[in-house]
Amino acid sequence: MDPRLLILDVDTGIDDAMALLYAVASPDARLLVATCAPGNASLEAVVRNTRGVLDIAGATGVEVIAGAREPLVKPLVTTPETHGPTGLGYAVLPAPTVPLTMPAAGAANAAAARIVAEVRAHPGRVTIVGCAPATNIAAAFRLDPELPALVGSVVLMSGAVATAGNTGARSEWNAWCDPEALNEVIRACATAGRPVLILPLDATESALIRPPHWAALTAAAGLPGAARGANLPPVLRLVDEALRFYDEFHLEYDKIEGSHIHDAFSVAVALDETLAHIVAAPAVVEVRDGATRGDLLVDVRGRTGTAANARVALRGEGERFLQRFAERVGALSTRVTG
Ligand code: BDR
Ligand code: CA
Repeated sequence: MDPRLLILDVDTGIDDAMALLYAVASPDARLLVATCAPGNASLEAVVRNTRGVLDIAGATGVEVIAGAREPLVKPLVTTPETHGPTGLGYAVLPAPTVPLTMPAAGAANAAAARIVAEVRAHPGRVTIVGCAPATNIAAAFRLDPELPALVGSVVLMSGAVATAGNTGARSEWNAWCDPEALNEVIRACATAGRPVLILPLDATESALIRPPHWAALTAAAGLPGAARGANLPPVLRLVDEALRFYDEFHLEYDKIEGSHIHDAFSVAVALDETLAHIVAAPAVVEVRDGATRGDLLVDVRGRTGTAANARVALRGEGERFLQRFAERVGALSTRVTG
């Protein structure tokens, strides 16, 4: 089967880095381009991180395109407490060589333009995976209103349905950061008859990477028993150093051992929907400022009588994904180091 054509829209970010590694490592995917949105970190930091991760992954032909500098309406807020001051935890990146398009401040959104160009070049075949606030994807749909009908699918890591929020009491970060963009993307895709697939925390938190998965990863990389912090090849070093910060964050804030790699799980579901339990339902995001900003309201039981406008994953098969993550990223590590 032909590999799936992917655009990853990222705000790299620790779990975005894991998503990029997984996409590059996956034989059933071809990463066309990585587009950058602000969110976890500023646009400049996201661009630097994304290029660095792709360099380490050996994906030096994948272009990185900078997009919006701010969410559609709200001012930008970043998350150094979650992803560290650079956005990539304790990871130290090489000087980037991956090609970059970085328009001047105030110029048009080049990421949106590139999303339009890629989808139009491969009508019906491109899967856009939104690992970031949906700002760039909404901008692409504003630029080309026919695009939602031409895209293969849109998969968005966003929101929390029945589980607690990770930003507000009920809100998830990507949805909270740019709720207006998320609503626009949901609406545009529904109108085009191609509802988005939403991966909320209810599904992505099943992807909790812990010590047994590190053991599986090092074994797949041909280094069975290699310890965290040891002298590791570049891909494993990136995973180790980035996740060490994320592990500390999860321990401090969520009182759990390990890290939720939401975005990597979302790429995996985009490639294989059997990793999630998906229902069709009406979904809308609260845009008003205040305690409920960014809350994703999904009428799972159909109580409102509103027509379904999205597909929503209510559970995930995180363990099955993590085995696959270990196999694929471990194999990538051996390919890159030769
Ligand atoms: C999402 O928000 C960001 O912190 C992560 O990169 C992920 O995309 C999880 O809520
Ligand atoms: Ca992200």
